[in-house]
Amino acid sequence: MTTLPSPTETGAAMSAMDAVYQRRSVRHFTAKTVGPEVIRRLMDAAVHAPTAMHQEPWGFAIIEDRALLDRLSESAKECVRKEAAGDHSPHATHVLDLVNKTGFHVFYDAGSLIVIYGKSQGSFVTADCWLAAENLMLAACAQGLGTCVIGFAVEALNLPEWKAELKIPEEWTAIAPIILGVPAGATPPVPRKPPQILAWR
Ligand SMILES: Cc1cc2nc3c(=O)[nH]c(=O)nc-3n(C[C@H](O)[C@H](O)[C@H](O)COP(=O)(O)O)c2cc1C
Repeated sequence: MTTLPSPTETGAAMSAMDAVYQRRSVRHFTAKTVGPEVIRRLMDAAVHAPTAMHQEPWGFAIIEDRALLDRLSESAKECVRKEAAGDHSPHATHVLDLVNKTGFHVFYDAGSLIVIYGKSQGSFVTADCWLAAENLMLAACAQGLGTCVIGFAVEALNLPEWKAELKIPEEWTAIAPIILGVPAGATPPVPRKPPQILAWR
């Protein structure tokens, strides 16, 4: 596989620490689209993640067709409603309130959805795909772009009808759906608790 020039070579450098601390889950985007070359660069950054036994078990789907994203959002909301039906926990109630809000779009009108799929069922396939996802999101941040993981969409993406429509072979499982776009303004940080140290001997 050819390796694209690094962001340093293209002038889009940001330190790894800056990207870690400046990445946000972005849910408001401008109408500007992210071109295919940038998306290729982000996928290239993704596949440089560590990978158990050097298996590289990942594959990508890029969805930018607006009508398709709208239908997938509706399908994802339906899956979420079915899963939360009859569950009266605060979490399920919050999720239902969110997906039932008028006009709620699970992809927040982002121009691109990148789905990372894992091949087969190895013990570390999921871990590899999430590591690739984080690389992709940090690389996007370093280039001034916004991303957000959309866990709500995982179940719908794995429905046989969506795999058939997107022509995803059966052995691939959708693991990490990530929206991508140009942020429409700054996103405030979500605070974190300090690390809980369970042992240090
Ligand atoms: C596995 C996973 C699933 C997520 N699913 C969603 C989602 O469906 N919709 C959404 O708006 N944000 C989703 N998020 C984003 C989280 O809400 C976000 O990471 C968290 O609130 C912390 O904010 P930050 O990423 O800006 O630091 C998801 C994040 C992860 C890691």
